Amino acid sequence: MTDVRRWDVPGRVNLIGEHLDYNGGPVLPMAIDRSLTIKVRNRDDDTINLWSDLPGSSKVAFGTGVQPGEVDGWAVYAAGIVWSFMSAGHQFGGADLVVESRIPSGSGLSSSAALTCGIASALNQMHDFGLDRTDLALLAQRAEHDFVGAPVGLMDQLAVLYGEAGHAVLIDTAQSPPTTDTVPVTWEADALTLLVINTRAHHSLADGEYAARREECERAAAELGVEWLSEATLDATIGLTDETLKARTRHVLTETARVRAAVNAINRGAWTQLGTILTASHASLRDDFEVSCPELDVAVEAALDAGALGARMTGGGFGGSAIALVPLDRVAIVRERVEARYAAQRWKPPEAFVVRAADGAHLVD
Ligand code: GLA
Repeated sequence: MTDVRRWDVPGRVNLIGEHLDYNGGPVLPMAIDRSLTIKVRNRDDDTINLWSDLPGSSKVAFGTGVQPGEVDGWAVYAAGIVWSFMSAGHQFGGADLVVESRIPSGSGLSSSAALTCGIASALNQMHDFGLDRTDLALLAQRAEHDFVGAPVGLMDQLAVLYGEAGHAVLIDTAQSPPTTDTVPVTWEADALTLLVINTRAHHSLADGEYAARREECERAAAELGVEWLSEATLDATIGLTDETLKARTRHVLTETARVRAAVNAINRGAWTQLGTILTASHASLRDDFEVSCPELDVAVEAALDAGALGARMTGGGFGGSAIALVPLDRVAIVRERVEARYAAQRWKPPEAFVVRAADGAHLVD
C-alpha cells in the first residue's frame, strides 16, 4: 500500500556519562543497530490504532485527545507522544501504527525512547510540522515526564534521534536545550567490538530510585550553590555534611572527568585506556551512586575476567544491560564466562550480542 510509510528507529547504549544528563554534565551515548520499525498510515477519523509484536501486547486504540491516566502498559509511550504533540498545539488526525521491535524489551536499551521519538519523527514528517530533532526530543521527554510519570533526562531521546553510523553522540546537557556533536568510534579497525550483555533483570525499585537520585543531586547542587551539580568543585564537596550527598556528588564530578578522558582516548584510539575508564565508571555507579545490582556487577566482573578491556553498566541501572569493550577473538569466551556465572547463581540466562553505532530515526520508505 502506497500510503503506508515506514520509519526505522534505533535503541541506544550509553558509552559513558551515566546519570549526568540531569546534572549538566557531558554524556556519550551511541545509537545501535538494534532498532524498531514503525509503520504509519493516516486515518480519516481521530482514532489511533496501535499494533505491536512487543511481548504481552495486543491491539490498543485511543483518541487523539487522549489524556494522562487513560492508557497503560507499553502503549502509554505512544499515547504520551500523541498527547505531547496535541497539547503543544501540533494538531493532527488519527493513524494506524504497527510497531515491530528488535530491541529486547526491558533491556535498558531505550526501546521506550525509540517508540516516542519514532512516532514523533513520523508525525512531524507526515504533517509537515517543521520541528527539528531537538524539538522532537523535548516533546518525547515531556511525554515521559507528564504522561508516563518518569522524570528522565534527554540523553536517550537525543541519542535515538541524532545517532550516526560509525559515531557516538557527545551531548552537552548544561546548554538549554542541550547541544550535540559526533565522535567517530573506530575500535573495530583494531579488532575490538562492543558487546551488550542484557542481564534480563529488572528490579522494581528502579523507577523510584531514579527519581530519588535526581532529587539528591538537586539537593547537593542547592547546598553547594551551583546551578548544575557537575559544575561543583571537588574541594567544595568537603563542605557537604550528608555522606550520601557527598558520594552522589563524587560520582557526578568524577564521571564528568571520565567522559572527557574517554572522548580523548577514543580520538587517539587508546583502547586500553578507554577500557580502564569504562570500568572505573562502573565502580563509581556501584559504590558512590548506588544504582548497580548483583546481575550487572557479575556481568562486568565476568567480562573483565574473560579478557574485556573494560566494562560497565549502561543506562539507569538496577538491571538492564552492561557493555564491554572486547577483542573480537574473546567475544565467545566472554559470553561463555558470563553465562556460566549466571548459571551458577541460578539467574535467568543473560543475552550477549555485538552492537555497532547506527543512524538515528529515519524514514525508510
Ligand atoms: C535513563 C534515563 C536517561 C539517563 C540515564 C542515566 O536511561 O532515561 O535520561 O538519565 O537513565 O544516565
